[in-house]
Amino acid sequence: MTGDALINGRTVPVGVHPATRLSGFLRESVGLKGTKVGCDAGDCGACSVLVDGEVSCACLVAAGQIIGGEVVTIEGVVGTPIGQRLIRSFKRHGAAQCGICTPGMMVAAASLFQTSTAPSRRDVEDALGGVLCRCTGYRKIIDAVLEAAGEVDEAASVDQEIEIGGLVGQSIARLDGAPKLVGAEIFGADAIPEGAALVRAVRSPHARARFTLGDLEAYGRDNPGIELILTAADIPGRNLHGVIPAFADQPVLADGMTRFPGEAIALVVGPPEIVRALDLSRFPVNWQASEARTTPSRALEPSAPRLHENRPDNVLVEGYVERGDTAAGFACAAHVVEGRFSTPFIEHAFIEPEAGYAVRTGERIEVRASTQAPHMDREALAGILGIEKEAVRIVPTACGGGFGSKIDLTVEPFVALAAWHLDRPAAMILDRGESMQSSTKRHPSDITARVACDAAGKITAMEFEGIFDTGAYASWGPTVANRVPIHASGPYFTPNYRARSKAVHTNGPTAGAFRGFGVPQSAIAQESLYHDLADKLGMDQLAFRLANALSDHQPTVTGQVFREGVGIKACLEALEPAWREEIAASKAFNRATEGPIRRGIGIGTCWYGCGNTSMANPSTMRIGLTPAGRIVLHQGAVDIGQGSTTVMVQIAADALGVGIGDLEIVGADTDVTPDAGKTSASRQTVVSGTAVALAAGTMRREILLRANAGDGAEIVIDESGLAVRENGATRWLDLSGLEVNERGYVLEAEETYDPPTTPIDRFGQGEPYSVYGYGAQLAVVSVDTALGTVTLERIVAAHDVGRAINPLLVEGQIQGGVAQGIGLALMEEYVPGRTENLHDYLIPTAGDVPDIECIIVEVPDPLGPRGAKGLGEHVLIPTAPAILNAIKDASGARVHRTPATPARVRAAIRAAGSTEQGGA
Ligand code: FES
Ligand code: FES
Repeated sequence: MTGDALINGRTVPVGVHPATRLSGFLRESVGLKGTKVGCDAGDCGACSVLVDGEVSCACLVAAGQIIGGEVVTIEGVVGTPIGQRLIRSFKRHGAAQCGICTPGMMVAAASLFQTSTAPSRRDVEDALGGVLCRCTGYRKIIDAVLEAAGEVDEAASVDQEIEIGGLVGQSIARLDGAPKLVGAEIFGADAIPEGAALVRAVRSPHARARFTLGDLEAYGRDNPGIELILTAADIPGRNLHGVIPAFADQPVLADGMTRFPGEAIALVVGPPEIVRALDLSRFPVNWQASEARTTPSRALEPSAPRLHENRPDNVLVEGYVERGDTAAGFACAAHVVEGRFSTPFIEHAFIEPEAGYAVRTGERIEVRASTQAPHMDREALAGILGIEKEAVRIVPTACGGGFGSKIDLTVEPFVALAAWHLDRPAAMILDRGESMQSSTKRHPSDITARVACDAAGKITAMEFEGIFDTGAYASWGPTVANRVPIHASGPYFTPNYRARSKAVHTNGPTAGAFRGFGVPQSAIAQESLYHDLADKLGMDQLAFRLANALSDHQPTVTGQVFREGVGIKACLEALEPAWREEIAASKAFNRATEGPIRRGIGIGTCWYGCGNTSMANPSTMRIGLTPAGRIVLHQGAVDIGQGSTTVMVQIAADALGVGIGDLEIVGADTDVTPDAGKTSASRQTVVSGTAVALAAGTMRREILLRANAGDGAEIVIDESGLAVRENGATRWLDLSGLEVNERGYVLEAEETYDPPTTPIDRFGQGEPYSVYGYGAQLAVVSVDTALGTVTLERIVAAHDVGRAINPLLVEGQIQGGVAQGIGLALMEEYVPGRTENLHDYLIPTAGDVPDIECIIVEVPDPLGPRGAKGLGEHVLIPTAPAILNAIKDASGARVHRTPATPARVRAAIRAAGSTEQGGA
C-alpha cells in the first residue's frame, strides 16, 4: 500500500513498507531527526508527534497508518505561534537540559494547547505524563508550558544586557540551548552518514558461560549481505579496557568466557537493512553455561569460582577509614542505634540509548558518539586498535543523558573496530533492552551501621560496613569502595569512626559511576540512623543535625581540616522556616484526620568531595586570539545537560573582562580542545572552571601588556578588531603583524588546574578532596498506612554551591537530582532479565515529582572559581534518606530496603506494629 501523507504541511509520499515504524520513516526517509527514539516501545514519549491532531508515539504507529492523514513533528510545531511561545518559555525557564526529551515535551504541550488555552498545572502534568525526562525533574518544563499559555514575559528574559564583569551569578540562558528547542540537536544517532554500515553485537544470554564459536563462514554464507563478522581474534591491539587503567579487566569482545548476561562476544556488520533483520539468536555459538554467582554473599563463599584470576575471594577493592577510638566512643555513649540497609541495582535510564559512528581516514580513526569522557575514550581506543592516541579523534555528539554511565566505553570500540576493518563508516545504536542489559548500574549495597551519641545528643562514634556489588568488571568499583568510607559519616563531626567497604564481583551487570559513586547508598544508612537516634533522644531532628554538623576548623573523618567554606550548617539553617512550618502542618493534619493517611516529614543531608579521590584530576583550557581580534575559547568539558558550556563561558568572559558575545566557543573534540577530564564527580565547575579562569586571566594580561595598559583597562571587541580603553583613550591593537601559531592564533593562553589533594594512608587519613559541597533536604509525605502507598507532598532542597555561577542552571541540577533521588527511594529497582525496558523499570514521571523549592546557599570555597563548589552529584544524595525518614515520621515504620514500594512499606508498618501511630 502506498500513498501520501501531509507532514508538517508538506505532501510526502510514504514510500516504505507500511509496517515500518513512523519514527523510523520520519527520521530516515523524511530526514526529520527531531523525532527522537528512546525505547521503540511506547514507554518514553521521546518520539511524540501529532497524528491527525492527536499525540502519538511514532514508534508505535505504522507508516502505512498515516497515508491520507496528517503528521506534525517538532519541526512543524516550532513554526507555529504556540511553538514560538514554547521556545521562548523553555529557554527562559531552562527547561531543556540534555534536550533529548524536549521535542516530545513540546509536541505534547502543543497538543494540550489545541484543547485548552489556559491549562491548570494538573492539566499540564497530565499532558506531559507520557513523556519521560531523566534530567530536569519536570518542574521547569511544567512552569515553561504554563507560561507559554500566556504571553511569555520577555521583560524578565534571561537575555537581558549584563554589564561586563557581571556574568557570574546571572541566570543567563544555556548558550548551547537553541538547537535543543527546535529539534535540531545532534545526538549520537542523528548524524550517522548515509551509507554507513550498521554494527550489531551478539551478546551472551547467560550470566556465566564458556563458549566456542561455530562456523562463522557458514553463517556469513547463510546470511548474504553481511560484510564483516568480528570476534576477539580481530582486535588489532589489546582486547581490554577499563576506566581506571590499573584495574582494566573488561574485554571489548569476550574471548571464550562471559561473566554477565548481555556481554558482547562478536560483532556483525553490514548494510543496515540486512543487519537489522538478522536473528542473532541463530549466531553460531556453543554455550556451556555454568553456575552464576549473582549476589555478593554467594560470590564471597569460599567455594565460589573467581571471576578474575587475580582477585581472590572475588573482592575487587576494599576501602577503610579509621579515626579516634571507636570502642571508647560507643562505651561512653548514652544512646546507640544500629541497622542494616540495602539498595538494588539502579539503572541510569538516560533517554538517549548509546549511539555513534566511526570513520577511518587513512591510519586515523574518528569517532562521533554520545560520551562523557572523550580523552579517556581516545586513550582506550588507541590501545584497542593498537595505534597511537594521536591517531584517534573523538568528537562527542550531544549527550542525551549520561549520569556517569557514558564515562565508560559503550559503542565506541565497536564502531571503531568495524570502521577500521571495513574502511568505511560504521554506526551502532543500542536498543533500549540492549542498553539496559549492557550499561553500567548504580552499585547495589548491603550496609550495616551503628551510631552513638551522648545524653546531650553529640555524636560519639560511628561504625560502618558496606558491601557493594560491583558486577562483572571493575569500571568505577574502586572509586565507590574508596569514596564511601570517606563519606559515610555524613557532613557531621564524628570523633570516633571506623568504616569499611568492599566491592565484590558478581555475575551481574557491571556497576560503575552513577551520580554519587556509592554515597547515596551510604547516606540512606547514616541519615536513617541519625533520624532514629534523634527519635530515641527525643530531640528535634533539625536541632540534632545542627548540633553535630561539621564546622570550619573541625577535622573530617579523614583528618582534613577546612579553615573556611564548610557549608552544612548554613544549609540546615536554610531549611529551618520550612521545617517549623511543616512540623506544625503535619501535627495539625494528623490530629484532624481520622483513618489511615498519616503525614510526616524527614531530613536528609549530604556532603560530597568534588573530583577524584586523592588522585590527579587536572583540566586544561585554552584561549586563543586571532589576527582579526577574535577571542576563541577551546573548552573540552563535555556538557551532558548540566550546563558546563555556559558556566565556562560565564567564568571566562568575566575573567577576561569581555561580554559573552565576544567569545567564540570551540566545543569538545580531542583534536582541537585540550583535555578537560571527564564530566563526572561534580568536578567541571570546580576544576575546569578554575582552569578557564586561569587561562582567561593569562590572556587578559597578555592583551593588556601589548597595549601597555594597566589592570583596570577595558578590552573592547567589535567588527574592526580588538582595542584597549583606558583613561578615556582607546588603543586599537594591530595584530596582523604578529606571528600566527599552528592553530591560527597570535596569542594563546593555555592553563591547567589540578586541585590540591594528598593520598590517604592505610587508616584513610589524608586530604582526599580540595573541596566538598554540602546540602540538606526536607521531604514531606503522606503515607496510606493501610495500603503502604506514599505520596510526596513537598521537597525543600538547600544546597551550598559556594557561588552560583548560574542560579538557573543550579536550580535545574537540584530539581533533576531530587527526581532521581525520588526514583531511588520509591520506585527504581533493576533486575537483570526482568526490567530491561522502561515499562517494567519505573522512573519518575511528571506526576511523581512534587513541588521542589530550591534554596541556593553560598558559602564560598577559597579555591573554587569565584568561590564555586560542585553540585551535580550532591543534589541526589539527601533525597532518598529524607523520604525514608518522612515515611518513618508518618508511620513509625523504618524501611530498610529501597525502593520503598507499597509492599515494603506495609511490611515495615506491620513489623513496627504501628499502623495507628501518627507522626510529627
Ligand atoms: S521511542 Fe517511542 S515511546 Fe519511546
Ligand atoms: S532534558 Fe529531559 S531527558 Fe534530558
